[in-house]
Amino acid sequence: MRGVSLLSKFFSLLALLTVSEASAVAKRGAQTSEASCTLKASGGDDAPQFLAAAASCSTVTIPVGTTLNIETRLNMTGLSNLNINLQGTIRFDPNIPYWTGNGFFIPFQTQITFWLLGGKNIVLSGGGTLDGAGQAWYDAFASNSSLLRPIILTLNQANNAVVENIRMINSPEWFNLVNECNDVTFNNITINAVSTSKNFISNTDGWDIYRSDSVTIKNSVINNGDDCVSFKPNSTNILVSNLNCNGSHGISVGSLGQFSGVFDIVQNVTAIGIQMSNAENGARIKAFAGDNVGSGHVQNVTFQNFVVNNVDSPVVIDQCYETAASACEEFPSNVVIEDIFFNNISGTGSGSEVASLDCSPDGRCSGINVNNLNLKGAGGKTTFDCQNVVLAGNSASLFGTCSTT
Ligand SMILES: *[C@@H]1O[C@H](CO)[C@@H](O)[C@H](O)[C@H]1NC(C)=O
Ligand SMILES: *[C@@H]1O[C@H](CO)[C@@H](O)[C@H](O)[C@H]1NC(C)=O
Ligand SMILES: *[C@@H]1O[C@H](CO)[C@@H](O)[C@H](O)[C@H]1NC(C)=O
Ligand SMILES: *[C@@H]1O[C@H](CO)[C@@H](O)[C@H](O)[C@H]1NC(C)=O
Ligand SMILES: *[C@@H]1O[C@H](CO)[C@@H](O)[C@H](O)[C@H]1NC(C)=O
Ligand SMILES: *[C@@H]1O[C@H](CO)[C@@H](O)[C@H](O)[C@H]1NC(C)=O
Ligand SMILES: *[C@@H]1O[C@H](CO)[C@@H](O)[C@H](O)[C@H]1NC(C)=O
Ligand SMILES: *[C@@H]1O[C@H](CO)[C@@H](O)[C@H](O)[C@H]1NC(C)=O
Repeated sequence: MRGVSLLSKFFSLLALLTVSEASAVAKRGAQTSEASCTLKASGGDDAPQFLAAAASCSTVTIPVGTTLNIETRLNMTGLSNLNINLQGTIRFDPNIPYWTGNGFFIPFQTQITFWLLGGKNIVLSGGGTLDGAGQAWYDAFASNSSLLRPIILTLNQANNAVVENIRMINSPEWFNLVNECNDVTFNNITINAVSTSKNFISNTDGWDIYRSDSVTIKNSVINNGDDCVSFKPNSTNILVSNLNCNGSHGISVGSLGQFSGVFDIVQNVTAIGIQMSNAENGARIKAFAGDNVGSGHVQNVTFQNFVVNNVDSPVVIDQCYETAASACEEFPSNVVIEDIFFNNISGTGSGSEVASLDCSPDGRCSGINVNNLNLKGAGGKTTFDCQNVVLAGNSASLFGTCSTT
């Protein structure tokens, strides 16, 4: 015990020295107004030196071959003009008791995160890796299903941020949360979650977007175990393009209308050029119905040029999400869905049903368009299902007459 605490004192001292080194570089840099700081691994917790550098340098480089070991939470909010040049690796030490007690709490869907990054004009790039060291978390979650697990990166109140040319591996939970941001671009991101035990990589969403406007996610490859990209409440003006998603739950709007008294908006979303393999869903919109839930509005969402391969439900609207059929009839969803386009979706499902467009009764869906659907079910059987909706577009006839409830 004593040995450990002495050792940790030694490391804190080392970290302090590194911090003052970084500040000195920053001060020198400031005189020539180009504060560029390069970090070295301290051997202990590298969070303090990383925070200090982010606060005082305009470029923070983590060189190739360097792994920053993050043992304590990173609050990097309210910054301006920060360029994080991540060539090496940032690894989040899987000290489960520390993070469950100290990860930043995100009230929406009861989440925690390792890292809040926000402010104006932020760039995170450089070809390096964010390592969530998820295996310990996947194993711990298997015996504690209420375990809070940290999101690797939360862009928090960021305005004009770019994350590009980064690999992200083994997040304990969602990989990226975009929370209350404007003008954010993710480009060329490789996401990979793999468990080496029998325990699943649960809830490893690629991206969740919440209360954010003008977000682009493009040119990326994702191998994970939950939503590839999810548009949560108040996602507006979003472009997702050229993604290769494997093993996921698809590109999802929602779920929306979950919380009583809360109004959720998803508007102006385009997802185009998506390869979706071995997934539960392809393109999906889900909204709650039933007693004592919330309300909202989904408008102008386009899913275009999808190629699906071994996907359970390639095309989905579920406006009675997690609601019994009888409850959905009595209390139809108050999330109105309109002007939706499923255009040019091709490939193969894993079952016979390749599309399921199920709305609540009472005309809660309108302007639902299906064009150029070229989908094949498994085993030579292909079915299209719809409920309480009038479909438009050149593939509407595939669905026949929709059932009504
Ligand atoms: C993060 O730091 C900012 C600025 O220093 C502070 O205002 C904010 O309260 C901190 N956030 C959390 C969650 O600790
Ligand atoms: C399970 O995780 C929760 C939330 O992180 C925590 O409060 C609780 O103590 C954990 N339970 C056990 C048995 O470890
Ligand atoms: C994409 O990012 C990787 C690092 O993850 C990098 O090696 C590669 O050069 C980048 N591709 C482009 C086109 O910039
Ligand atoms: C794609 O997902 C499948 C099923 O989850 C998995 O077996 C396979 O290894 C994944 N492929 C890649 C390239 O990650
Ligand atoms: C979404 O935006 C609307 C309009 O600004 C607002 O009334 C609503 O409370 C917001 N909902 C959430 C979940 O933030
Ligand atoms: C959606 O796009 C239309 C057309 O560009 C625009 O008028 C509208 O304000 C956008 N909606 C939101 C919520 O930004
Ligand atoms: C629909 O959303 C797209 C962005 O996804 C936008 O370019 C277009 O203007 C919007 N159309 C309408 C009618 O709002
Ligand atoms: C349909 O989608 C496929 C796959 O993304 C694409 O190659 C093709 O060009 C698209 N067709 C049209 C007419 O846009």
